[in-house]
Amino acid sequence: MTALTLFDNGHHRNILLEDFSEDSVVQSSQHLIIDGTDAMILDPGGHRFYRQVMSATMSALKGGKLTHIFLSHQDPDVASALNGWLTTTEATAWASVLWTRFMPHFGMDRFVAQRLKGIPDEGMRLMLGQCELCILPAHFLHSPGNFHVYDPVSRILYSGDLGASPGAQAREVADFAAHVPQLEAFHRRYMASRKAAQAWVRMVRTLHVEVMAPQHGAVFRGPALVAEFLAWCEETDCGVDLIADTYRVPAK
Ligand SMILES: [Fe+2]
Ligand SMILES: [Fe+2]
Repeated sequence: MTALTLFDNGHHRNILLEDFSEDSVVQSSQHLIIDGTDAMILDPGGHRFYRQVMSATMSALKGGKLTHIFLSHQDPDVASALNGWLTTTEATAWASVLWTRFMPHFGMDRFVAQRLKGIPDEGMRLMLGQCELCILPAHFLHSPGNFHVYDPVSRILYSGDLGASPGAQAREVADFAAHVPQLEAFHRRYMASRKAAQAWVRMVRTLHVEVMAPQHGAVFRGPALVAEFLAWCEETDCGVDLIADTYRVPAK
């Protein structure tokens, strides 16, 4: 099991954990942000790979402490092993207020439930060690209660399912045009609305993003590739833009 370092200045590290998934399970990445001795895991995932992800996390922390668990939304590949993470660490978990009363259905022990905190719709700032992370609204991209994380130290934007390319073989996007076919089908069906994507693009353009790291597939490294993704995202129809012919009673 290996981990890929996306950023390291000696005090602050951003680690992409290796993909543990197999054939029938959608490929997912887990990310760690470590500032000093405090760490956050983003979208830790489900039961299937819980042990591997936990052990890779503990070795990446090098004696540090998991203080935060960030859940971009409520999907099983994001949050279904939350109970394990809460019972084996003292971390606080953060998810949209829309989902905090639904997530206990994944199974959550009563004594850890109060450590799952709600993120308000407008997002928030969150201290990790000495670093103030920005929790950005990304609603309807794809979940109705959805957030991304911007790390101002590494300038990495963690974009959850947006920009995801499940099953992509490359760890980094080399050429945007060549990468579009890997984004397109997922984006058109799983993202809810181009209007939401356009609002998100306007927000992201106010930030200095060096790397965009989605939850599935290849990472976008460098402002030029990120800008290409933003331009594509704001002009690509998805979700409700494409439903015109979808609602028909299926034929017998
Ligand atoms: Fe999702
Ligand atoms: Fe996902």
